[in-house]
Amino acid sequence: MKVTFQIWRQDGPTDKGRLKDYEVDGLTEDMSFLEALDHLNELLVLKNEKVIAYEYDCREGICGQCGIFINGRAHGPHANMTTCQLHMRSFNDGDTIVVEPWRAQAFPVVKDLIVDRSALDRIIEQGGYISAKTGTAPEANSIPIGKDVADKAMDAAACIGCGACVATCKNASAALFTSAKINHLNSLPQGKPEQHRRVLEMTKQMAYEGFGHCTFTGACEVECPEGISIVNIAELNARILKARLLG
Ligand code: SF4
Ligand code: FES
Repeated sequence: MKVTFQIWRQDGPTDKGRLKDYEVDGLTEDMSFLEALDHLNELLVLKNEKVIAYEYDCREGICGQCGIFINGRAHGPHANMTTCQLHMRSFNDGDTIVVEPWRAQAFPVVKDLIVDRSALDRIIEQGGYISAKTGTAPEANSIPIGKDVADKAMDAAACIGCGACVATCKNASAALFTSAKINHLNSLPQGKPEQHRRVLEMTKQMAYEGFGHCTFTGACEVECPEGISIVNIAELNARILKARLLG
């Protein structure tokens, strides 16, 4: 299988950056997309050229590190899939594949396809935790949680912090990410003590980091690899009102 990758090359945050063409032969449809990029990097090493910088960790759809734009779509052409889960069989022999980093003011490019997503970590730092007494873990069944609540919290907890929602949103809003993280903890009894402070502090940090406002276009939900629902954003808006009154 032979394709042409058009890949964004940028030496650092201040470099202007540009797309560069790479014709790559010797690929197979069973290779993952990242393995195809690995193969290209091996060829560049042999030619003594600078390798392409891209990020990954688990390669299993868990860590959220691998996000890139592929042919204008976050994480590539399929719904509910991270870049590392994408395979070359999703493309045809002879295709041209455009590969770019996330584009958002709050995610400055570090190098090539790697962006700095630490703004999401700083939102988490403002409330993505619970207070719990130290010592032996309490008996799990001593805090009864209904299945509907547990399911809702687990659905929100599925967010892997990849940033595709931000990169896809025309406003570069982090509302889907932030609402998922807040609803996960605020839905559960363990998250109640800090619930209002969590809402106010995490949304304040979100605005401070330069993410745009949510205008509820729903693009984030479509491109989220974990299928996080925009119902989370509606619920967060109600939580913000409540926190302002009671927090
Ligand atoms: S809400 Fe979805 S797209 Fe956004 S960071 Fe979480 S997993 Fe990624
Ligand atoms: S490398 Fe971990 S989600 Fe893709």
